[in-house]
Amino acid sequence: MRVIICKDRETATALVAQEILIEMTQKPDMLLGLATGSTPLGVYKKLVQAHREGTVNFSRLRTCNLDEYVGLSADHPQSYRHFMRQNLFDPLGLPPENSLFPPTEGPGLEAQCETFEDKLQEMGGIDIQLLGVGSNGHIGFNEPTSSLVSRTRLKTLTEKTLADNARFYAQNEKQPDLASTMGIGTILSARCIIVQAFGAHKAKAVHAAIEGPVMSLWPVSSLQMHPKVVFYMDESAAELLNMRAYYRQVRENEEDIQKRGSL
Ligand code: GLP
Repeated sequence: MRVIICKDRETATALVAQEILIEMTQKPDMLLGLATGSTPLGVYKKLVQAHREGTVNFSRLRTCNLDEYVGLSADHPQSYRHFMRQNLFDPLGLPPENSLFPPTEGPGLEAQCETFEDKLQEMGGIDIQLLGVGSNGHIGFNEPTSSLVSRTRLKTLTEKTLADNARFYAQNEKQPDLASTMGIGTILSARCIIVQAFGAHKAKAVHAAIEGPVMSLWPVSSLQMHPKVVFYMDESAAELLNMRAYYRQVRENEEDIQKRGSL
């Protein structure tokens, strides 16, 4: 696990975008796992900027999303399909067939979740999975007590998650409380995982993720079981980490070795 504490969100965002762009130049048809929420927005802006500057060709990029609300149509402003079209797919000019979402409509949702898993396999698996983290430690919509080996399925959202996301809905608007989400096992199957966390309201979850025991009460702690996971955070999200000084020292050593050109 690598822990990278940045002076601010902007610095972290630039580093994450750079990691994705490097992977894309090596594998233009990479399968990029995407997250929603406010956390990944800076990275999406950087990818769009690279597209506009013409430095990277995104035409073969394939994407899959972590989760989606059940009961919202694709054009509902709060649906994750709408969010992704607005913030990434349309600005990059990605054709719709390049993107995969967990199912939320039509009959046989459970069977459709299995088909989604099969499709991920057929596509060769996820190369990089981007993650944010809920303040209660959820990843995707794997709420506390989710099985650590779960696959894509339907999940009922907790009161905490509903309250965190209530700001996106009008007062009399019905907020969905059911979602389909990649499971924790699905996420852990990605070849590389990049987690971002910004702000003091994420500090507890970040501490549980990196320095707490692995437990389903903090789904994000399951990432300790993955061989290639990188956490990028700002100073406030890092404020409860006991080993902050060590993570900084590791990073400085890494940068030193990189400068000498031998890493
Ligand atoms: C939602 C999404 C998660 C996301 C979380 C954090 O619940 N399902 O994938 O990580 O929100 O949101 P934010 O980035 O806005 O803090």
